[in-house]
Formats: sequence, structure tokens, C-alpha cells
Amino acid sequence: MPMTLTLKTLSKEDAPKLHELESACHSFPMSLSNLETCFGRFYHVIGLFDDEEMLGFSILHQLFEDATLMDICVRPDAQGQGLGKRLTEALIELAATQGAERMMLEVRASNERAIALYRQMGFEQVGMRANYYQLEQGKEDAILMERLF
Ligand SMILES: CC(C)(COP(=O)(O)OP(=O)(O)OC[C@H]1O[C@@H](n2cnc3c(N)ncnc32)[C@H](O)[C@@H]1OP(=O)(O)O)[C@@H](O)C(=O)NCCC(=O)NCCS
Repeated sequence: MPMTLTLKTLSKEDAPKLHELESACHSFPMSLSNLETCFGRFYHVIGLFDDEEMLGFSILHQLFEDATLMDICVRPDAQGQGLGKRLTEALIELAATQGAERMMLEVRASNERAIALYRQMGFEQVGMRANYYQLEQGKEDAILMERLF
């Protein structure tokens, strides 16, 4: 059945729902209290819904011309259908309307799927932080990416 997808701006009351999705997507999810801080000043959280059901979300932080893509998650059973692209495009559009000149992000070096998505959306690698992220055993590098507007 074709999906009728809508994008909605989320508020702090949606944090538990976000946390549920975050925990299903990431091996090291953000805590509920960390996610709650993403509804503070300078943040925007967008949810992608099929009717009432949230299939994904993305979080933008923007301070004037400097935007940061803080997180993006698509429910595992809905991945690979263009929803990640849709959420990234929505954040880029929002940041552009708010006067962004650049958007930054950090991603695990092993996260090939996300890196491929970001490249497709115009991000390029601009740096690397060695041993930045926790793994079950040891650490892994963070890739820093940037998209200019
Ligand atoms: C990263 C993520 C948001 C992508 O969402 P998605 O809905 O699956 O992505 P899309 O279907 O929009 O695909 C967009 C692009 O991503 C890449 N991609 C998607 N699935 C892929 C796969 N299985 N392998 C490699 N690249 C893949 C492709 O470049 C794809 O573009 P294409 O379809 O034109 O080839 C999703 O996989 C996710 O939630 N992952 C877990 C959370 C996470 O890692 N977030 C990023 C934190 S920095």
C-alpha cells in the first residue's frame, strides 16, 4: 500500500517516542535526557510520519549561519526507501531558510550507509577525529563532513 508521508515539527512531549526510535536504530543511543535537550533554543526536530506512525526523525542545531545535523534515524523496517534522503533534504531546506552558510555533521567511520547518504546530499569529508566513538570493544573514528550553501 502506498504511504502518505508527512513531515511535522516535534516538541519535547515527543522525546519518549524519539528515544524509542533512537534505541532501535543506534547501538549507542542518546539517552532520553540528552534527547530532551534537543528541544532547546536553536534546535529543530522534524518527524516523518505515515499517518500517526513515526518512521523517522532528524535533528538540526543552528546558530545563525552555522548549522549542524545532530542526528537522523529511520525505523529499521522502513530503511532503504528514500526516507533518510527525505529527512536530510527537509533539514537542509529548513537550515537554508534560516540563513545557513554551512552544515556540519559527525558520523562513525563504519557507518557506510549514512556516509553514502550524506555524500549524495552534498556533504564532503573535511576532517576526522581519531578514536572518538565508543564501540563494544575499543573506539572508532569520527568522520567530519560539511555541506556549503
Ligand atoms: C542512515 C539512515 C538514516 C539512512 O536512511 P534510509 O531511509 O535507509 O536511507 P535512504 O533510503 O533515503 O537512502 C539514501 C541513500 O543512503 C545510501 N544507502 C541506503 N541504504 C544503503 C545500504 N543498505 N547500503 C549502502 N548505502 C545505503 C544510498 O546512498 C542511498 O541512496 P540511493 O538509494 O539513491 O542509492 C538509516 O540507515 C538509519 O536510520 N541508520 C541508523 C541511524 C544512523 O546511523 N544515523 C546516522 C547517524 S550520523
